Amino acid sequence: MPKQKIHIKVNGADREAEVEPRLLLVHCIRDVFGLTGTHIGCDTSHCGACTVHLDGTPIKSCTIFAVQADGRELATVEGLEQNGKLHPVQEGFWQEHGLQCGFCTPGMLMTATAFLKEKPNPTEEEIRFAISGNLCRCTGYVNIVKAVQYAAQKMRQGA
Ligand code: FES
Ligand code: FES
Repeated sequence: MPKQKIHIKVNGADREAEVEPRLLLVHCIRDVFGLTGTHIGCDTSHCGACTVHLDGTPIKSCTIFAVQADGRELATVEGLEQNGKLHPVQEGFWQEHGLQCGFCTPGMLMTATAFLKEKPNPTEEEIRFAISGNLCRCTGYVNIVKAVQYAAQKMRQGA
């Protein structure tokens, strides 16, 4: 199958690649760009482990092709930490033990960071609704909700 050249800004850096039009964005992120923090849990848009931001909007990167991201901005979990400092959402997951095996965590972090930008002071119900597209098989979600609450408070204090 002929390949197509794509340019994507990934975590602030310009990247280019030659990919088959059928390549899913998540495979491009992991196998072409080498950013394996984005996980694949189902490949069928159910689990949310592959969540990234495309032009600031959280998307499940197993649901679109890499060529659809051409010319756009992509943020992955590797871009959350800045200058050695964890993002408040990452800090929240650390402080509140918001993970066990960690498989769902990158997707949870990307969903939560986008959500808190829109909703800086969410209720517990709003947090649970926001992460309802991200499945976790380990935690029972209680500490994930606490982690997001921790981050929301920290971000409000910093604002
Ligand atoms: S791998 Fe994309 S939603 Fe599960
Ligand atoms: S911590 Fe294991 S799936 Fe969420």
